[in-house]
Amino acid sequence: MSETTTRLPFSSFLTFLYGAVAILTPPSSPTSVDTYVFGGCTIQKYIPNSPFHSNLNLLLGRLVGSATSAAYANFTVVGSTPQDTIYGLYQCRGDLNSGDCSKCVAGSVSRLGTICDDACGGALQLEGCFVKYDNKSFFGVEDKTVVVKKCGPSIGSDLDALTGVDAALAYLVTDGGTYRTGGGEDVRSVAQCVGDLSVSDCQDCISDAIKLLKSGCGNSAWGDLFLAKCYARFTRGAAHAQDDANGFGRGHGNGHKDSNENENEVNKTLAIIIGLIAAVALLTLFITYLNKKCENRKGGK
Ligand SMILES: *[C@@H]1O[C@H](CO)[C@@H](O)[C@H](O)[C@H]1NC(C)=O
Ligand SMILES: *[C@@H]1O[C@H](CO)[C@@H](O)[C@H](O)[C@H]1NC(C)=O
Repeated sequence: MSETTTRLPFSSFLTFLYGAVAILTPPSSPTSVDTYVFGGCTIQKYIPNSPFHSNLNLLLGRLVGSATSAAYANFTVVGSTPQDTIYGLYQCRGDLNSGDCSKCVAGSVSRLGTICDDACGGALQLEGCFVKYDNKSFFGVEDKTVVVKKCGPSIGSDLDALTGVDAALAYLVTDGGTYRTGGGEDVRSVAQCVGDLSVSDCQDCISDAIKLLKSGCGNSAWGDLFLAKCYARFTRGAAHAQDDANGFGRGHGNGHKDSNENENEVNKTLAIIIGLIAAVALLTLFITYLNKKCENRKGGK
């Protein structure tokens, strides 16, 4: 599925939502959170302007709305017929703040409208978030289909380097959370499950991803292994250009810079909002004052 499809978004509602988010968010330096990783759509299509269509819009709106306050959520919009019932969820990367999470989900939902035009189901993984919807329930279903396997250039057979990756990935297996980071200066690693998986399914999924990553990309400069419901990745060295493309370098080396930028953005937005509130309050006071004055005059006459 090509990302460069330039069909019109199927829903003006979504365009509106995305527009609203874009206006509220001050322009920021380009981050990798929005970078495309993979996407897919069902072949089955729904009828535009049908109950299914409006249920889908409702669902996508709920996903976007919820992403301001939670890193994971699932929603079900129950239709009048089982075919019109629709299920959807999103999962933000574990190190994103709520501002970046909601930006990512809003952007992803908007892009799904273009990529999966009128499809009954769609999924999109960006660097910062995963969004999926379908009219068939998929919540809690472990899916270990290999979706992306990409390795960086070979580093040959440097034994120390190989050991470093083994250690960083082994650490991920034992960590136990939904979002896991490991490694040190030389190798950094990250793994995450979609939040609907049980603890044991998440563990099983990540273990499998790591096995495939080790056997497939063990002697590469970096590796990405995405299964349908979890992923594992690693990158070597602190100064790889790939770090930015991989995104998960944040929260380690350059994480401080990013979070400061985000804080500045939040501060700017806050300043604008507080300014607006103050202006409205002053205007209200002024009008009240004028009204009183007029009333006093009327009373005086
Ligand atoms: C999903 O929607 C399509 C189109 O309306 C329909 O043909 C299909 O049966 C639905 N699937 C389920 C599981 O309801
Ligand atoms: C779906 O969301 C509900 C309500 O937030 C939650 O209780 C439930 O555990 C979630 N289910 C899954 C599979 O994540």
